[in-house]
Amino acid sequence: MRSQDRLRDLTGLRVLAVVLGMAAVTASVALAQQGAQLRGNVPFTETPRAEPMPRWIVDDVRKMRAYPDQPPLIPHSIEGYQLSVNTNRCLSCHKREFTESSGAPMISVTHYITREGQMLADVSPRRYFCTACHVPQADARPLVENTFKDMSRMGVGHAGDNRR
Ligand code: HEC
Ligand code: HEC
Repeated sequence: MRSQDRLRDLTGLRVLAVVLGMAAVTASVALAQQGAQLRGNVPFTETPRAEPMPRWIVDDVRKMRAYPDQPPLIPHSIEGYQLSVNTNRCLSCHKREFTESSGAPMISVTHYITREGQMLADVSPRRYFCTACHVPQADARPLVENTFKDMSRMGVGHAGDNRR
C-alpha cells in the first residue's frame, strides 16, 4: 500500500516537472516577443527602418561625475582618433608631458600605477586602452526611464556646510 502511494507521488512529481518545463518555455517565448518589440513591432520577416544616428555631444564642457571614482565622460569628439597597439591619439594630448601644450587634463596618477601597485614613468598597460572605461555621450533618448538622484540632492549635508 505504502509503496503504491510513493509511486503515485513520484508520478505527481514528474507531471509537475513537465508543467514547470512548459512554463519556462512559455516565459522565454514571451521574452523573445518583448525583444521583438524593441525593434519596433516589425515582423521578423521585414527589415525595420533604421533610427537616425544619435549625435555626439562635443561641447567641450566637462561633465560632473555621478560618483567620485567614475571614469569621466569624454566631452569632445574622438572621431578618427587612432587607438591601437602602435598609436594612442588620446595620450598625445592627455599624457603628462603633453598637457602643457594641449591644455587637456592630465590622466590621473592612477593611470601610472600597475596592478601590483608599482608606479611607472609612463601610462600603465592596464590603462592604455582609454575607451574601455571612458566613453563619449550621445544625444539619445534613454531606452528605459532613469530615476537616478545625485546624493547631494537627497538632503545630505556636506563637510564644510553650515547647516545642521
Ligand atoms: C587634441 C587633444 C585631445 C585629444 C587627442 C584627446 N583629448 Fe580628451 N580632452 C582634451 C581637452 C582639451 C579636454 C578638456 C575638455 C575639452 O576641452 O573638451 C579633454 C577632456 C577629456 C576628458 C574629460 C576629463 C574630465 O575630467 O572631465 C576625457 C575623459 C577625455 N578627454 C578622454 C579622451 C580620450 C579617451 C581620448 C582618445 C580617444 C581623448 N580624450 C583624446 C583634449 C584631447
Ligand atoms: C581601467 C579603466 C580606465 C582606463 C583604461 C583609462 N581610464 Fe582614465 N580614468 C579612469 C577612472 C576610474 C578615473 C577617475 C578616477 C581616477 O582618476 O582614477 C579616470 C580619470 C581620467 C581623467 C581625469 C583625471 C583627473 O585628474 O581629473 C582623464 C583625463 C583620463 N582618465 C583620461 C584617460 C585616458 C586618455 C586614457 C587612455 C590612455 C584613460 N584615461 C584610460 C579609468 C580609466
